[in-house]
Amino acid sequence: MLQPNDKGYQLIKRELSKFLNLDDNMYKDTYLLRRISARARRLGVNNLMDYYLFLKKNKNEIEQLLLTITINTTEFFRDPIVWKTFQNKLLPEIIRYKQMNNLKEIRIWSAACSSGQEPYSIAMIIHEVLGGKLDNFKVSILATDIDTKALATAMSGIYPKNIVDKQVPLSLRKKYFIDEGEYYKVNSSLKKLIMFKHFNLLNKSYPKGFDIIFLRNVLIYMTHDAQGIVFKNIYSSLQDHGYLILGRTESIIGKFAYLFRIYDLSSRVYKKNLELIKNG
Ligand SMILES: C[S@@+](CC[C@H](N)C(=O)[O-])C[C@H]1O[C@@H](n2cnc3c(N)ncnc32)[C@H](O)[C@@H]1O
Repeated sequence: MLQPNDKGYQLIKRELSKFLNLDDNMYKDTYLLRRISARARRLGVNNLMDYYLFLKKNKNEIEQLLLTITINTTEFFRDPIVWKTFQNKLLPEIIRYKQMNNLKEIRIWSAACSSGQEPYSIAMIIHEVLGGKLDNFKVSILATDIDTKALATAMSGIYPKNIVDKQVPLSLRKKYFIDEGEYYKVNSSLKKLIMFKHFNLLNKSYPKGFDIIFLRNVLIYMTHDAQGIVFKNIYSSLQDHGYLILGRTESIIGKFAYLFRIYDLSSRVYKKNLELIKNG
């Protein structure tokens, strides 16, 4: 079995970090080794030093490798319990907060949006909850990912029919999708709420002022230190009343746990630990 100290692996990791403009130890070695080996195997290359040499010779290969590393698995309404909490608890609380404080803006960030199913699910729920009151608010969903190919799919809003049929209830399909033969296309009522952008979560500076941040199923690939960088940035990106939603298998543990407190464990919803602000 390959080890993290394999010379070829170390060199590939350095190329990848250079390409992404990151420190060397941001993704977990076990994860990277598995993905890089899978890519090498697919090319019929037997060891990682040979794959490194191939990578150096072929300019486009680094992008192919990145596609292998950024696993884009996603679904509309992935993990139904999260969507119930979002619809029945978080959004109503945010709306109440806005009304009490006479505020109009609702800002949501889908921070590893992959091919768009997550932000479109958010947009559908917002329409369902706000209905005719949508125009009373200025709702915006920022949807970002590091993977430009996944983002292109997200922006097109076109998905195979069998996937949408399986994942989106009929009542919502009828309202928010246009039938285009073998595909469905999301309609403009969803699209106009969303802005898609390329963004690397390991960047130093983050957009700010969000009521909710969806950060689901991306931290699992990162090292504890990288997760710490992300959590600290997310802390200042969220408004004080805001909510952070992680993936169902993710949690904030160890030395960064002090930043947030659990709000709803089964849906993996967290709120900021405001004691930190009070205590400076
Ligand atoms: C498994 S998908 C999760 C999609 C969606 N959030 C969900 O839960 O269904 C993980 C996404 O994280 C993205 N990703 C990985 N590393 C990233 C980084 N450093 N910055 C931004 N996105 C990243 C990948 O490109 C991929 O689209």
